[in-house]
Amino acid sequence: MSTGTMKKSHSQWSSRMGFMLAAAGSAVGLGNIWKFPYMAGEMGGSAFVLTYLLFMFIIGLPILVLEWLIGRRGQKNPIHTMQDVAVSEGRSKLWGWVGIIGVLGSFLILSFYSVIGGWATDYIVLAAQGTFEGANGGITENLFTNFLGDVNSLLIWHTVFMFATAFIVALGVGAGLERGCKIMMPGLGILLLALVGYAAYASGSSFWKACDFLFTPNWSALNGTAILAALGHAFFSLSLGMGIMMAYGSYLGKDVNLLSTARTVVILDVIVAVLSGLAIFPLVFANDLQPGSGPGLIFVTLPIAFGNMAGGSILGILFFIFLTFAALTSSISLLEPTVELLEEKTHMGRKTATIVTSIIIWALGIACILSFNKWADVTLFGKNIFDLLDYLTSKIMLPVTGLGTIIFAAWMMNQKRIREELNLNAFWFNIWTILTRFIIPVAIVAILVFGFFPEGK
Ligand code: PHE
Repeated sequence: MSTGTMKKSHSQWSSRMGFMLAAAGSAVGLGNIWKFPYMAGEMGGSAFVLTYLLFMFIIGLPILVLEWLIGRRGQKNPIHTMQDVAVSEGRSKLWGWVGIIGVLGSFLILSFYSVIGGWATDYIVLAAQGTFEGANGGITENLFTNFLGDVNSLLIWHTVFMFATAFIVALGVGAGLERGCKIMMPGLGILLLALVGYAAYASGSSFWKACDFLFTPNWSALNGTAILAALGHAFFSLSLGMGIMMAYGSYLGKDVNLLSTARTVVILDVIVAVLSGLAIFPLVFANDLQPGSGPGLIFVTLPIAFGNMAGGSILGILFFIFLTFAALTSSISLLEPTVELLEEKTHMGRKTATIVTSIIIWALGIACILSFNKWADVTLFGKNIFDLLDYLTSKIMLPVTGLGTIIFAAWMMNQKRIREELNLNAFWFNIWTILTRFIIPVAIVAILVFGFFPEGK
């Protein structure tokens, strides 16, 4: 019923801590626990992992800072923020396109993210039913394969997850979620540590094999495909290139130190990913599973741990609850930009905008579900629908939007003001300039080209 001129569509950050938690909540999600390990497994391990870590700090961190900085200047949704900031810097409104591609990306990602969030939710129930008790690799693999073939179950859980996402977004991201994050995130961290401990204890020498696989440099496995995947994943994992962090930045006070906050978020994000790898790969090797087995990896490996450790049922339930929650804190951030856009650009209210957007995303999710079973053979460029959505977003749209953002920030904006805002001394400002003006844009372009035409083609 607000008749005021200011539309408030997200919650306002109550404090720097609240902001950091929301940003970390968006960043830490299925990307760290589900996607990172299986990509590492598919890409041959350490070469991918080390490249990803490098990109997180050299490319991800500066872009995260700049998305917040632009958002804080613009104070609007990503598209209008980009337009307004461009105009105020004396540039073309066409920069708004960076925001448009970003919003489109978030929309597409949510359609498959919700399906995987549904898997996590279903696994809460499976854990509670004691399904994993005494399970070995063969059993958990079968369980997962059957699940993927069961369209009805997949659909139900996708619907449940999408509904929960829409429900929270429709209400506005209130204190409930911020408070929830405060409890759930540390809980997830502690459980992950416990799982790493279990993996180290139960899998004996396989633990070292896993460390070796993840960290001992193996550069021969590095090719264009892996480098592009590492770059795309750095964006995905920090929720960059979708205007999300820009939107989050629009609610920031001037007093928040962007660099140090970004550093904390990147470090947290990396720690969760690495811990997940260390919890999963020892079990992969100890149970003769395939590291490169794809998206099912954590759903096949972790139940083995829960099925065989003392108190495993309870830990299993807790783990999948926390995982679902981590996914929800990300999925709401994926839904927000489109909802906000519809709210501002059409006559729809927040609730209608949420319902309309969610239904379209939900329907797209069904295509993704079918690509795991009935439509497994429906392919375009050799990829099924799930792979195609993932490829298009992570490997094309996010890096391209990130490139647009960095070129805009480093070449179109007043650098003196940025320097003041980031509080950099002359030395660090020089490094910052070289990085943002030259190294990052050139690296992104090179990786895109190299990634699309791998192996010297
Ligand atoms: N960063 C989230 C994750 O790692 C995924 C995400 C991507 C969330 C893009 C928001 C935007 O799971």
